Amino acid sequence: MARDGAVYACQSCGAVQTKWAGQCPACAGWNTLVEELQARPPGAMAPSKTSKMRGLAFEGLADQTPAPPRIATGVDEFDRVCGGGVVPGSAILLGGDPGVGKSTLLLQVAAQAALRGARCAYISGEEAVEQVRARAQRMGLGDAPVKLAAETALRAISDGLKREAFDLVVIDSIQTLWSDAHEAGPGSVTQVRAAAGELVRLAKSRGVAIVLVGHVTKEGTIAGPRVIEHMVDAVLSFEGERGYPFRILRGAKNRFGATDEIGVFEMGDAGLAEVKNPSALFLNTSGERAAGAAVFAGIEGSRPVLVEFQALVAPSAYGTPRRAVVGWDSGRLAMVLAVLEARCGLSLGDRDVYLNVAGGLRITEPAADLAAAAALASSALDQALPQDCVVFGEISLSGEVRSVSRMESRLKEAAKLGFRRALGPAEMDGAGAMATTGAARLTDVVRRIGDASWD
Ligand code: TYD
Ligand code: MG
Repeated sequence: MARDGAVYACQSCGAVQTKWAGQCPACAGWNTLVEELQARPPGAMAPSKTSKMRGLAFEGLADQTPAPPRIATGVDEFDRVCGGGVVPGSAILLGGDPGVGKSTLLLQVAAQAALRGARCAYISGEEAVEQVRARAQRMGLGDAPVKLAAETALRAISDGLKREAFDLVVIDSIQTLWSDAHEAGPGSVTQVRAAAGELVRLAKSRGVAIVLVGHVTKEGTIAGPRVIEHMVDAVLSFEGERGYPFRILRGAKNRFGATDEIGVFEMGDAGLAEVKNPSALFLNTSGERAAGAAVFAGIEGSRPVLVEFQALVAPSAYGTPRRAVVGWDSGRLAMVLAVLEARCGLSLGDRDVYLNVAGGLRITEPAADLAAAAALASSALDQALPQDCVVFGEISLSGEVRSVSRMESRLKEAAKLGFRRALGPAEMDGAGAMATTGAARLTDVVRRIGDASWD
């Protein structure tokens, strides 16, 4: 029996149920429902002072609103993903797997911003002050005037932020905070929501930009950052493949800028280094390009990025052939395989297929279809693509190669890196100053690869 006031909150999606169940009815996660006591009755809390009745005042759409001033933190890749710096009074959520480098990134951001004159604080609920200090020293930022604190009590943090004025405050992490107005444990949906709500209000009322760290967990033992995404102004995620030093900062939601922007970093001994030219990073420039490799001329946010797709098509040892993909969508791979099979006569149904995006980047653009298809056909036919060729184009189910956005910037970036040819949609011909091979149909591309006819 549920106790009075008890509800069951899914630690993964945040849905609240009145009865316990083994599987969350909302997100279908298993063992994610945890009993939580609701907040104390409203009488225990003073009504907000700002909720006094005021007349509703309309403004014209055409009235002028000055653009928000921004804090340039000095970490350019971070600033760009935020939309050109951090907006004062905004709340940003930075999500990512434990160990990916969130604390490292934000300590660097706070330290660099402080060196540029911003008043910054870094509040850690996970590490002692000495640990944070040692890390800053290792990164060569030991002298930055950042104020440090180790604290998990929400009340102490909010009192501290009311006493002293800051421009930028990092809270690491939202899941370690606890509010004494709620009985649920730290990391529960109730606590995470309460802490985020209070900190977002504080950010707005004090004009301080607050960055909240949120660990993403698959186990659902602590509430995921998803439960507070709607409260904050911007949601960023920090990603990286295991075994690669590269880290990608991606904007998932941004009230003050574009959301498809990425920042690229490389994790080293002295923290995260910004990578200004990601194309050079994701390309395998050493030696010949083997059969199965195709260089995709992509666009990530506002920047063109070149990255290698690598495919291996091999005889299958089992009845059910394997399909494995890293860095690309497996549904999209299935689609491209089906089109290659049905429209181009390439028989892949009984073979194992592996597809990799080099360097640990995750590609989501449909324009990558043709690069994946070219890599797969190149491996299946054992014919390498020309060394100096880039590929892009969307593929339709009927086997057409569709035009994609920003073809000129793609070609320009490729030319800058020494590529001399491009394989893509027919509309591409004449768009850039290199030898372009436009094709209306995928089957023409496959035929060219098989015959190695490029001139
Ligand atoms: P951290 O920022 O603590 O990750 P998160 O806050 O997302 O959990 O980063 C942890 C990893 O980064 C850890 O495995 C060590 C590595 N690291 C470096 O390689 N170089 C460095 O200079 C630092 C500070 C961390
Ligand atoms: Mg951390």
